[in-house]
Amino acid sequence: MIKTLEWTDAGVRLIDQTKLPLEETYVTCKTYEEVADAIRTMIVRGAPAIGVAAAMGVALGVRDSQAKDHAELKCDFDRICDVLASTRPTAVNLFWAIRRMRDKFEQVSTQPIARIQQELVTEAQRMMVEDIAANEAMGRHGAVLLPSSGGILTHCNAGALATCGYGTALGVIRAAVDSGKKLQVFADETRPFLQGSRLTAWELMKDHIPTTLISDNMAGAMMQQGKIDAVIVGADRIAANGDVANKIGTYTVAVLAKEHGIPFYVAAPFSTVDLATPDGSRIPIEQRSSREVTHLAGKQIAPDGVTVENPAFDVTPNAYVTAIITERGVARKPYAESLRELSAVSVTA
Ligand code: MRU
Repeated sequence: MIKTLEWTDAGVRLIDQTKLPLEETYVTCKTYEEVADAIRTMIVRGAPAIGVAAAMGVALGVRDSQAKDHAELKCDFDRICDVLASTRPTAVNLFWAIRRMRDKFEQVSTQPIARIQQELVTEAQRMMVEDIAANEAMGRHGAVLLPSSGGILTHCNAGALATCGYGTALGVIRAAVDSGKKLQVFADETRPFLQGSRLTAWELMKDHIPTTLISDNMAGAMMQQGKIDAVIVGADRIAANGDVANKIGTYTVAVLAKEHGIPFYVAAPFSTVDLATPDGSRIPIEQRSSREVTHLAGKQIAPDGVTVENPAFDVTPNAYVTAIITERGVARKPYAESLRELSAVSVTA
């Protein structure tokens, strides 16, 4: 399995996703500030992966704190959490993970400092193990929804690289292929950051899963030609009513899928579900640098001074979503009810 991120004594070790697929290199973030930079610059990306990376960043910052007493440690802890929380606004897993580290900190706050430090490291490592288990559970719940043969379209990268391993949407595809289904994956290249061509194509080819790369504007034609039997994507935040924020371009694919009568599935761990956000209009959408649009692999491809928009995510209204696959089970419309019901399901069930 691809090691997207890993806790080591030297720091948080990450596969550098900005270098893939040409170079498979790893960076070790030795401070929590370096972890924050890695999230901001997308060395590590994908909602579940940035959540666990942030948790490891918190653990690293606390482990290396020079605090002499508990009051100083709490001060350091709050600063570390604030820095990591300021990296990217859309994926709720980031805030979920930091909240979980806060809860752990509060739970052990009267223990000796060395014990608190150890507990936070253990908690971050536990989150990594749980993320992989959640993905495998999503695979089991989702594989049965995919056809026994046919074309599956995916957008962006919701794979091992976007998680601690196995993937959400790609985890479902992996599980379906492992169960004997004959699938051909169509990977949208996903302009402007190219997660589809650089990351999804790379990791599926590594697993010998038949993959065809298309540019984003080919998705409609592929559907019209009958080559797509289902769409499956990940999510960065799912509102209480089932509206889904995911990589920019997802909404376009969902509308096309509905027009062609093709099921549109979302696979995400429950840590992506934000019951405190009532609908998609309240989800903060990250705006990234215009350079990601005006330049390709360092080369300028647009005129100097052109006005650019670069929202990193869009919101797909719940009406377009056939089902939401989580580790707790599959939610269907009306999502306000099914997601609330799943939120009460025990994680170990
Ligand atoms: O900007 P990115 O690459 O972090 O965006 C990633 C996505 O939009 C993924 O589809 C989403 O995080 C789900 S990953 C399991």
